Amino acid sequence: MSVQENTEKHFLGNVVARNVDQGPLVYDLFEEKHHLLESLTKRQVELIVPSRPSRILVVGCGTGISAMTISNMLSSSDRQTRIFAVDVSEQMLNRAKERYRNIPGLFFIRGDADNLESFFHEGFDGIFYTPSIFHIPNFRESVRQASGLLVPEGVISICGFAGLFGENGEDPVQKAFPDFRHNAGAVPFQEAESFFESMPEFRTTWVDFRMEAAEEFVFDYLSIPSQSSTLFPKLPYLDRIPKIREICATLEGKAGPVFMGWKFCMARKGRRLAS
Ligand SMILES: C[S@@+](CC[C@H](N)C(=O)[O-])C[C@H]1O[C@@H](n2cnc3c(N)ncnc32)[C@H](O)[C@@H]1O
Repeated sequence: MSVQENTEKHFLGNVVARNVDQGPLVYDLFEEKHHLLESLTKRQVELIVPSRPSRILVVGCGTGISAMTISNMLSSSDRQTRIFAVDVSEQMLNRAKERYRNIPGLFFIRGDADNLESFFHEGFDGIFYTPSIFHIPNFRESVRQASGLLVPEGVISICGFAGLFGENGEDPVQKAFPDFRHNAGAVPFQEAESFFESMPEFRTTWVDFRMEAAEEFVFDYLSIPSQSSTLFPKLPYLDRIPKIREICATLEGKAGPVFMGWKFCMARKGRRLAS
């Protein structure tokens, strides 16, 4: 990576982090309307079967929706889970604690994803990056430490935004606005993918998921402060909104139906089978 690319990546990472802090309310309003995080997290839990972890770490837990979804799916009156949910943003965590206080076995902790081993020592059997890895610039160190906290045959589950797609897989924003450079997150998902593939201690399975996305849905998603900052990192939040509206209103006419892409990775800790 060139020095300029590296500088741009760090700049974007910082901008995204600042915008996450601004965003708990917009974020939760989006979720109340579309239930996207809940749906994606349910899929993460379904995709790790037959694993049913009970000692769980959630990295980048945000306002707690994903952690609560995991708790609902994996805890029951006769099966108690311990879920530690970590986020670096105090604003997001405050919201999580306010909404989900007194849920047995669910603990919200402020911490940095790339400093997990300084405050966790327990062996987890499930670690979830619930739509967060593409917002963590130093994700390699985070995954390296998460791997050290995982028991043998434990599973790391990742979900990340892969971008917008046209019917034939092309980038519709690029097609409609050829001169506009943009990113899906602070970290392109391909980087996470090649990093996992280079780790011999994991057996990985990848799943692509594309959903048709109506104009209003794309607009609401891209208007989340952290997401909008990946499109217009140098503009103040309110100045981005009319531009996002313009993009969304033009997209379908110029590029056809739009699909939102998500990628899931299940990485199981254990030796790869010889091929
Ligand atoms: C898209 S949100 C995740 C939402 C979450 N799954 C939920 O249910 O609300 C991404 C989260 O990753 C967190 N994050 C980004 N970088 C981080 C880091 N270095 N350490 C911990 N959390 C981080 C952000 O603060 C943000 O809350």
